[in-house]
Amino acid sequence: MVQFNLPENSKILKGKYFKDETGSTNIKLVHVYRWDPSKNENPREDTFEVDLNKCGNKVLDILNKIKNEIDSSLTFRKSCAHGICGSCAMNVDGVNTLSCMKSHKEIKGDLRIFPLPHLKVVKDLVADLSALYRQYESIEPWLKTADSKSQKKEINQSKKNREKLDGLYECIMCACCSTACPSYWWNGEKYLGPAVLLQAYRWISDSRDEDKKARLEMVADKLKLYRCHTIMNCTSACPKGLNPAKAIGSIKKMLATS
Ligand code: SF4
Ligand code: SF4
Ligand code: FES
Repeated sequence: MVQFNLPENSKILKGKYFKDETGSTNIKLVHVYRWDPSKNENPREDTFEVDLNKCGNKVLDILNKIKNEIDSSLTFRKSCAHGICGSCAMNVDGVNTLSCMKSHKEIKGDLRIFPLPHLKVVKDLVADLSALYRQYESIEPWLKTADSKSQKKEINQSKKNREKLDGLYECIMCACCSTACPSYWWNGEKYLGPAVLLQAYRWISDSRDEDKKARLEMVADKLKLYRCHTIMNCTSACPKGLNPAKAIGSIKKMLATS
């Protein structure tokens, strides 16, 4: 039988253990993925005893506490802390989510925090999203009109047309969906993935945009679009409650009927 083994240096080893020094009786064990590219070492899983008596309710509060009070070398992204910027996306207890929105109180027992899956890791919990951003750029995510350069005034939109963007404009490009998609795991270089396709559909659906035909032609590709096999992981993963699988289905329907 064929056996597959991970390269020795990719195995996640047991890491350091940081014992609570406050004497608190309200301790949560938090296991965090660590990897530093400047050291020639395997990734490891560090364990922190975190005093919940002096900690906010969100997973991001725990990470901030660890960084501020226990190990300042812990690296992760965050900015708004209100579910708006998308930068704190990571895998918490096996599920991709925004750490600033996820309550650790919902997680019974130990807490496990990993970077978004199936991406290269920059450091610790920071996943490399540069390929996804290049794909995002490729769909030209801005309003295109014939005279866009000379356009000086606001372009009005009817209420009805504006409503067509509901469920699309709220996307914060956190990548929770794309990194939960098996098709994106295996074909991420060519398949655009749910986050970028939802964004593509957002511009295709905008009544003010005059490039709809070219936009549809651009995504009408067996690898860029049709690698979606409607597995629906993306929709379950979206922390904003959006439905990228439906957006992808709508693009396919438009192409089939145009
Ligand atoms: S529905 Fe499509 S995009 Fe969403 S997880 Fe499945 S294959 Fe990926
Ligand atoms: S659709 Fe949802 S999960 Fe995907 S990038 Fe947008 S906000 Fe994030
Ligand atoms: S920090 Fe901005 S979405 Fe979490």
